[in-house]
Amino acid sequence: MSKQPVYEARGISKNYGNVIALDNVDFSVAAGEVVGLVGDNGAGKSTLVKALSGAHKPDAGALYLDGQPVEWNSPHDALERGIETLYQDSSLAPDLSVSANVFLGREEVVPGFWGKLGFLANKSMDARARQELEKVGIAVPSSSRSVAKLSGGQRQAVAIGRAVTWATKVIILDEPTNHLGARQSAEVLHVIKQAREKGLAVIFISHTLPHVLEVTDRIVVMRLGRVAVDAPTSTFTPDSLVKAITGFEVVAS
Ligand SMILES: Nc1ncnc2c1ncn2[C@@H]1O[C@H](COP(=O)(O)OP(=O)(O)O)[C@@H](O)[C@H]1O
Ligand SMILES: [Mg+2]
Repeated sequence: MSKQPVYEARGISKNYGNVIALDNVDFSVAAGEVVGLVGDNGAGKSTLVKALSGAHKPDAGALYLDGQPVEWNSPHDALERGIETLYQDSSLAPDLSVSANVFLGREEVVPGFWGKLGFLANKSMDARARQELEKVGIAVPSSSRSVAKLSGGQRQAVAIGRAVTWATKVIILDEPTNHLGARQSAEVLHVIKQAREKGLAVIFISHTLPHVLEVTDRIVVMRLGRVAVDAPTSTFTPDSLVKAITGFEVVAS
């Protein structure tokens, strides 16, 4: 690869009891690059994501951020270094407003005395949340509206918008277009392209191969806990991608 990776995993292995979930996996992503991570159910994608996001420690292997070795003891450690992860089951708080969700765990308080008492700067957070979401092309009816009132697509867009807002280096999206309609998926893909424009490194996990072929620069195919293929997206056809995932020739019908 010509580009210097911003985030890299070398020789990652992880077992769950007798199950070898990851077996000596190398993975990297560069700034301004979208890498697709694909593979059948059980191939090890989510386990790799958990190692990259600090959700669990691999049994073997090492992580490098900007070429320096890093070690995560919790997801918080990775967040602090600019690595944002959107898990398969996104974690918005439905009763809170859009802006409260965007600022969840990073709330701003009003200046001065009231701030010391913990009064939140809701107006300023509403305005900033709207601004940040608009930057990546996400329009929400109102950033003070509760998330429960949004459609599934809007909710997913807010979750991704939050990740793009706070990520300074890497954004990891585990199946973000699952359960979304065509138009909503298109919006999510648009946000991914915006994240790339912003210079973020994006890891995109999806079973929807047309989405992967549309939005990624490179595709890493996992099979049974190993990297089977790692190649530029331009070298794949829809058929060859299916073949790489299953390990079988696509039979013409
Ligand atoms: N918490 C767990 N406990 C036991 N086995 C697990 C656990 N998580 C994943 N596995 C196993 O590890 C393998 C890889 O799973 P996973 O990373 O979820 O794959 P993918 O995301 O590609 O579908 C599978 O065989 C799965 O059953
Ligand atoms: Mg998974």
